[in-house]
Amino acid sequence: MPQEITVIVLAAGGGTRMKSKTMKVLHPIAGRSMIGHVLRAAVAVEPSRVVAVVGHQREQVGPHVTELVPDALLAVQETQEGTGHAVRTAWEALPAQARTGTVLVITGDTPLLEGESLRAFLDFHAGTEHAMSILTGVVADPFGYGRIVRDETGVAAIVEQKDATEAQLAIDEINSGILAFDAAFLDAALPRLTNANAKGEYYLTDTVTLARADGRTVGAFVIDDVVQTEGANDRAQLAALGAEMNRRILDRWMREGVTVVDPASTWVDADVKLAADVTLLPGVQLLGATAVGEDAVIGPDSTLKDCEIGAGAHVVRAHGELAVVGPGATVGPFAYLRPGTELGQDGKIGTFVETKNAQIGQGAKVPHLSYVGDATIGEGANIGAGTIFANYDGVAKHRTTIGAYAKTASNNTFVAPVTIGDGAATGAGSVIRRDVPPGALAVTSGPQRHFDEWAQKKRAGTAQAKAAADAAKASHRGDDAPGAGPDAGTPESGVGDSVAGG
Ligand code: UD1
Ligand code: CA
Repeated sequence: MPQEITVIVLAAGGGTRMKSKTMKVLHPIAGRSMIGHVLRAAVAVEPSRVVAVVGHQREQVGPHVTELVPDALLAVQETQEGTGHAVRTAWEALPAQARTGTVLVITGDTPLLEGESLRAFLDFHAGTEHAMSILTGVVADPFGYGRIVRDETGVAAIVEQKDATEAQLAIDEINSGILAFDAAFLDAALPRLTNANAKGEYYLTDTVTLARADGRTVGAFVIDDVVQTEGANDRAQLAALGAEMNRRILDRWMREGVTVVDPASTWVDADVKLAADVTLLPGVQLLGATAVGEDAVIGPDSTLKDCEIGAGAHVVRAHGELAVVGPGATVGPFAYLRPGTELGQDGKIGTFVETKNAQIGQGAKVPHLSYVGDATIGEGANIGAGTIFANYDGVAKHRTTIGAYAKTASNNTFVAPVTIGDGAATGAGSVIRRDVPPGALAVTSGPQRHFDEWAQKKRAGTAQAKAAADAAKASHRGDDAPGAGPDAGTPESGVGDSVAGG
């Protein structure tokens, strides 16, 4: 029968070197808090229970832990008297019948830790008679770590930096802080820990000498990938671990068939999902729960947070949040997709376009210089350049509906709430305040009128007036200039050629 596993996560320390209002373990790396990464690894070993020891800023840390692991137990350590004291606090928070099996102790600030490594460590421990096992690593600079002192039967002691002799300081095998205990041994050892050491703390690491005093053995499991056990204590280490995590995430996606043209300038969060043959061009950030479909091309220079990008879509120099881009659709360059944007299959959100809470139908296009807020745009519709969906009357937001295959002209304003029917059209410069019936052409700008020789009269003495006068003279000589005089015009004139783009 597999052993019951209890995971204890230590996260009560202050993390003062972060110099932050935010508790150390809550600082994010790759879109998740550091402790979020650790909890993910912990859950991967399928423990019977998880206990988090919280202290400093527990009003932030506690709810965060229970959000990620709803049945986690929180043990409050009022004063931080050392790792041994922290584990004792967790132990006392457990019901007596839960103090059984194997106890895995980990710390909340090692974001690169992987569930697989914990699994391998626990398998190692389970295959021995050791009272406890230590996940150790061999490091170039062991300063600050507890050193692993070995003898012929295994590990004899862990000696902390401040308590170590010269000879012990030279040992380069270190305690990662990740330990596995036989529960019965731990139960007996915790009350025997003292704080008679250089730091005046209850060291969890003293359990090693207690085990040996009891005639038990202690094992060490050396992890090759020691960075998995590294903690971020300050912002420089946070950045270094963040870069390493990003490198690992990109490596994994490239092995899954994603092209990353420039890994150095590409950032992908841990929870992002990418399909095969996605291409990420330089300067791309994919954040949160973003998902990208097969053959899509993202970038260069795009940031997408919690977005869903369909297969074969192209997103160029765009910023998006909580937006959905359909298969084969195109976005940008220079587009801002705000929450609630849903672009249909083969649709287009073009250059200098901002969208928000907008459903844009299949094949519909908003190609140039527009704001589309609180809108439904039907299949195959085309929105002219420079169109503003005026959704806000100063008090409330209203919706605009554009029918299927409607063609609206350049420089329109749609004053919501308003509906433009299927197959309808508008004239350039229209300000649409009333619903337009299906198939109708709506024109709101007045007929064009000319006030002859206005420049010569009202701007006399200027370069403008001179240019106008020279042109008039030339036209008298050649008699081939366009006719002057008031122009009644027709509403239809100029409509067709003012429909923007395709
Ligand atoms: C500890 C180990 C050391 C190991 C190192 C690995 C001990 C005595 N030493 O040293 O052998 O090499 O980790 O990083 O265990 N914590 C609490 N409550 C406390 C004290 C600590 O929750 O009262 C938490 C901290 O928030 C941190 C972790 O325990 O996450 C480790 O504590 P820390 O004080 O950093 O121990 P180290 O001195 O680094
Ligand atoms: Ca530490």
